[in-house]
Amino acid sequence: NWTMLNIVEDAVTAVRAQIGPEGRAICALSGGVDSAVAAAIVQRAIGDRLTCVFVDHGLLRKGEAEQVERDFVAATGVNLRVVDAADRFLDALSGVTEPEEKRKIIGREFIRVFEDEQRAIMKDGPVDFLVQGTLYPDVVESGGGTGTANIKSHHNVGGLPDDLRFDLVEPLRTLFKDEVRRAGEELGLPAAMVWRQPFPGPGLGIRIIGAVTADRLDILREADAIAREELSRAGLDREIWQCPVVLLADVRSVGVQGDGRTYGHPIVLRPVTSEDAMTADWARVPYDVLSRISTRITNEVREVNRVVIDVTSKPPGTIEWE
Ligand code: XMP
Repeated sequence: NWTMLNIVEDAVTAVRAQIGPEGRAICALSGGVDSAVAAAIVQRAIGDRLTCVFVDHGLLRKGEAEQVERDFVAATGVNLRVVDAADRFLDALSGVTEPEEKRKIIGREFIRVFEDEQRAIMKDGPVDFLVQGTLYPDVVESGGGTGTANIKSHHNVGGLPDDLRFDLVEPLRTLFKDEVRRAGEELGLPAAMVWRQPFPGPGLGIRIIGAVTADRLDILREADAIAREELSRAGLDREIWQCPVVLLADVRSVGVQGDGRTYGHPIVLRPVTSEDAMTADWARVPYDVLSRISTRITNEVREVNRVVIDVTSKPPGTIEWE
């Protein structure tokens, strides 16, 4: 529709004016819709003078890295540098179980990797602009100030060091989430990115209760993919705010499969409804959908022999388990 077209075109024009005919910009992609739409707008404005960086920390869900590396690039023609940093993040997280500690480590490693990339990009000439997917509600929440880079680091992995003096380019500053999604559609971005439910920056790292290992990530990634597939198939994506799938990696319970006793891990489903994530209620997912998810996870993911559902509202529970 024409209003959406105007919003995109106005944003492109404004970005072009801000960056000028020679300026270069960088943008960190997270796999989420905000950074993707912001990058796509800036790409339209300045083309290859934008370099996107995707730090693959190995904590994304099944198919999400490919969405960025393949589908997003195909849709936008964006100039992308991919850093496969999974081993580095795993090493740094080795043996760590405390949630805030995990967040700190993931945030710190992200900054280090991004700084390395930024230095490499600057070998081709100076970069003065940093693109951020800041939305209107973020602006309001943080008091409305603008200026040099200092992103709320408490929540997003994309928190960047404030000694990097960039001018911020924030093409989504006046938009709400639903407008960003419509802009994403207008820009032809992959539907899975445009409609992705909220997903925490530290990713699956805070959905493994216990230490993060490659094997545990594989288990969780499979279980999560099944839950997402069945919830989507049941048409529940819009009704459910998000559904964390959590691996209780240090818990084992006895089960039976075929003739044998099993001693596997539980998976927790945490489907919630919410308006803004500040409060939430547990989602009344139909029993037959829960049943399909449970049957498939226990059949298809060998290490899991039990699926449980979290029926706690927020408060007192948070949406995530860590
Ligand atoms: P909680 O668990 O606090 O989550 O009820 C509220 C919303 O925030 C997301 N969340 C995070 N997002 N980095 C993020 O980018 C984080 O460290 C983080 N922790 C929680 C959560 O998924 C929910 O949407």
